[in-house]
Amino acid sequence: MKGIVFSEFNEMVEETFGDEMLDDLLDENADKLSSGGAYTAVGTYDHNELVTLVVALSDKTDIPVPTLVKTFGLHLASVFSTKFSSFFEECADTFSFLKKIDNHIHVEVYKLYPDAELPKFSFEILNENSMNLIYESTRQFADLAEGLIEGTAKYYQEDIQIEKEDVSSESHQKVIFTITRR
Ligand code: HEM
Repeated sequence: MKGIVFSEFNEMVEETFGDEMLDDLLDENADKLSSGGAYTAVGTYDHNELVTLVVALSDKTDIPVPTLVKTFGLHLASVFSTKFSSFFEECADTFSFLKKIDNHIHVEVYKLYPDAELPKFSFEILNENSMNLIYESTRQFADLAEGLIEGTAKYYQEDIQIEKEDVSSESHQKVIFTITRR
């Protein structure tokens, strides 16, 4: 997983829980992290390190892991909307942006970072105000996707409702998000 994800996770911890929480989190878990907890934006690290950090943060804050991962997705959407603003500017609304993740946005991300590990997204338009976005990955980051979807709607100032159906198998996480514009 790319360093930008880790540096933004650390940023979110610092902003939300303070410098001391971030220092403690990295110090206390250094032996479980193969990188030792030193992340640079250009590096690439095992995605399980993010899982280790989220689980440890959940223990320290008593906030459930899924809530923390989703909140991180919201933070990441806000970061992407400034760092990769052109992707947002070229779309008029949440649905047109989400439709382009797999065949445009993540394709460009992959050109930028050829070792990126990206999920697969497909979609189905149900009617004018609802669509299904189907997340598939060998990693378990559907909650991150949910936060990113919410963050995208926030960017476009649209009120959406998200329903989830988990159709995962053992080796493969697959979640169908039904997104409805209100
Ligand atoms: C401008 C918008 C976006 C950019 C620049 C972007 C970029 C990235 C990058 C850099 C990664 C990390 C890959 C790695 O570390 O190997 C990633 C992963 C991921 N992206 Fe995106 N992304 C964007 C939008 C979205 C949206 C809207 C969603 C959800 C609907 C999404 C879902 C995910 C998920 C869930 C992962 C984690 C990897 C996995 O689940 O297998 N992304 N993306």
